[in-house]
Amino acid sequence: MPTRPCPLNHGRPRHHRTLQPKWHNHHRRHRPMSGRRRGPSQGLEFLTAGEDNYCCTCAQAATSVKKMNIEKFRNRDLEEYVKQHSVRQTEVQKKLMAETLKHPESKMMADPVQYQLMANLIQVINAKKVLDVGVFTGASALSAALALPEDGIVHALDISEEYTNIAKKLWSEAAVNHKITLHLAHAEDTLQKFIDSGEAGTFDFAFIDADKEGYDRYYELCLVLVRRGGIIAFDDTLWDGRVIDPSNQMPSTVAIRKLNEKLRDDQRINLSLLNIGDGLSLCFIK
Ligand SMILES: C[S@@+](CC[C@H](N)C(=O)[O-])C[C@H]1O[C@@H](n2cnc3c(N)ncnc32)[C@H](O)[C@@H]1O
Repeated sequence: MPTRPCPLNHGRPRHHRTLQPKWHNHHRRHRPMSGRRRGPSQGLEFLTAGEDNYCCTCAQAATSVKKMNIEKFRNRDLEEYVKQHSVRQTEVQKKLMAETLKHPESKMMADPVQYQLMANLIQVINAKKVLDVGVFTGASALSAALALPEDGIVHALDISEEYTNIAKKLWSEAAVNHKITLHLAHAEDTLQKFIDSGEAGTFDFAFIDADKEGYDRYYELCLVLVRRGGIIAFDDTLWDGRVIDPSNQMPSTVAIRKLNEKLRDDQRINLSLLNIGDGLSLCFIK
């Protein structure tokens, strides 16, 4: 008779004379089989999870614990693996990210895997004119500027002088400041200004990463400004998972949920919603 504790039963022995009847009966009915799997004809189903044998109830619990651990492992370690096996950064990009990570608002910076995908898209579509809506410390604008040809331009839109002063210093170090024009004003006003000055349909790529409640308005304005065959990208469209938490009714969450529904049904674009970083939606303008 095995005396090894059931791995999911808090160290209590599987079989013992002094057991309370209920627990005792449960474990008599679910007797471990020393690694052998008993067929249904013998009345008992015994599952193997890893190297341990569990009764069927415990095995289900063990499987879900294992699954949870695998999911955690996937999220954390596989993300790191992806970064280590794909991300290419210049020294200034690395410095910018390291400096930004010390910033109290560092979580506003997007993910290097996202930057690289967008940089690759910028090159694939031969972009020359890019909108960066929400600059912060300048990582997204820097990545776009590095991907553009010498005569390319990034129009970088933000309201914060404090954040963008950090960005300007690093753009200068990366020798791309001639490719970036900063507009310090509400993004909606700047985008409208471009439309009013006749630049509709002249942009190739837009990255929208400013205040979430403004996303839909920026989208509509960017749809006017970006040409057919161009791309509008949104960061944070999974919003740390809050989009699937119905109890979360924060204005930012509600805005992103509504936008995701709108993009799904919007026939003006083809769409990809990618589970990288905090969610990256790519709108390919038809
Ligand atoms: C998430 S951060 C941008 C991160 C940046 N794209 C990056 O990859 O590091 C959002 C930025 O949007 C700016 N912002 C917020 N509301 C804005 C508005 N109405 N117009 C322009 N910029 C705004 C903030 O000042 C902040 O720098």
